[in-house]
Amino acid sequence: MHLGSELDKSFTAALKTIARRADLKAYVENTPQLKHMLQLAAVRYVTGEARQDGLDAAEKLVAKGYAASIEYIGENTTVASECEAAASELLALIHEVGQNEVLARVSFDLSHIGLLIDTELAFSHLMNLANQAQKSGVELFISMEESTKTDRILSIYKKAILKYPNIGITLQAQLKRTPEDLAALHAATSRIRIVKGAYQEPDDCMIPRSSELNQRYVELVESAIRHGHHVSIATHDEFIIEELLEQKWLSNSNVEFEMLYGIRPDLSSRLKAAGYPIRIYLTYGHEWYLYLCHRIAEYPPNLFQAVIDTVSNEKVESVRAYV
Ligand code: FDA
Repeated sequence: MHLGSELDKSFTAALKTIARRADLKAYVENTPQLKHMLQLAAVRYVTGEARQDGLDAAEKLVAKGYAASIEYIGENTTVASECEAAASELLALIHEVGQNEVLARVSFDLSHIGLLIDTELAFSHLMNLANQAQKSGVELFISMEESTKTDRILSIYKKAILKYPNIGITLQAQLKRTPEDLAALHAATSRIRIVKGAYQEPDDCMIPRSSELNQRYVELVESAIRHGHHVSIATHDEFIIEELLEQKWLSNSNVEFEMLYGIRPDLSSRLKAAGYPIRIYLTYGHEWYLYLCHRIAEYPPNLFQAVIDTVSNEKVESVRAYV
């Protein structure tokens, strides 16, 4: 059930604003009862605050036949010591993923490890992570952030893969520039995740949710596959999924579906049962508040689910919904 497209849009914009309000976030963090209630809603999408929560959920999903990605949530960190701490946490995660052979990919935002302070700082943390990932046999994936950061993220990525080809990059179909960004990656075979895009961008640089965007998404996936990249089709949009299945793109062994933990587990389960490779993107960490707001903002009916989850006597364990 949607609220009507204008109301939907205003709701989404309002929630994204709420997500970014530092005073509201601080209020939630300092009000134990409110924090507890919201955490009950967040566990549908975030495995927990500890690394072990992410690893445990990944292990359960892998045992059921899914592949996994794990993200230590965080972005826009502006204090160098906090970037350092985030990079250390990611190093530990990579190490454990490698040791446990959980078959997980590790994902992160460059602005969590220094992009907003200094491009070189983010690059040097990335190189350390990539070095550890190579030793541990783990694949790294860089998320894509607001369009004001796209040039910097792509330039760091292109420099890093010269030494460490085990790093992948996320591209947003909603940005008008993305076909050119993808074409610039065709020179070498890359690992590419294609998403629609989670951020509200200026009208002149984005295509809003629409059939035009869906068509663009399909074209990007087709182009990436034709050029031999490893491609993650990261969407829950059944129109896109059906279209790509009809075109038989999934018979290519370099292609997989990837979906966010807790979102459409029924669809993931159905695709897995039909024999398609599917990866579930798990998150953990203390920054669950922003992540929860994003998941509700992009699909307003989730607000009803969040209210139900906060008063339910049973703790939500999304992993059980995957069959
Ligand atoms: P769309 O938003 O059009 O939704 C299509 C349908 O999917 C909806 O009608 C609904 O049925 C279902 N759906 C979508 N979201 C839902 C929700 N929250 N709850 C319930 N149902 C929902 N973005 C970004 O900007 N940078 C990034 O690095 C990443 N990384 C990333 C990794 C992975 C693995 C995924 C799956 C997604 C991302 N994203 C992202 C988020 C992405 O840009 C986008 O916001 C979401 O995937 C939602 O878009 P859809 O493609 O699902 O389509």
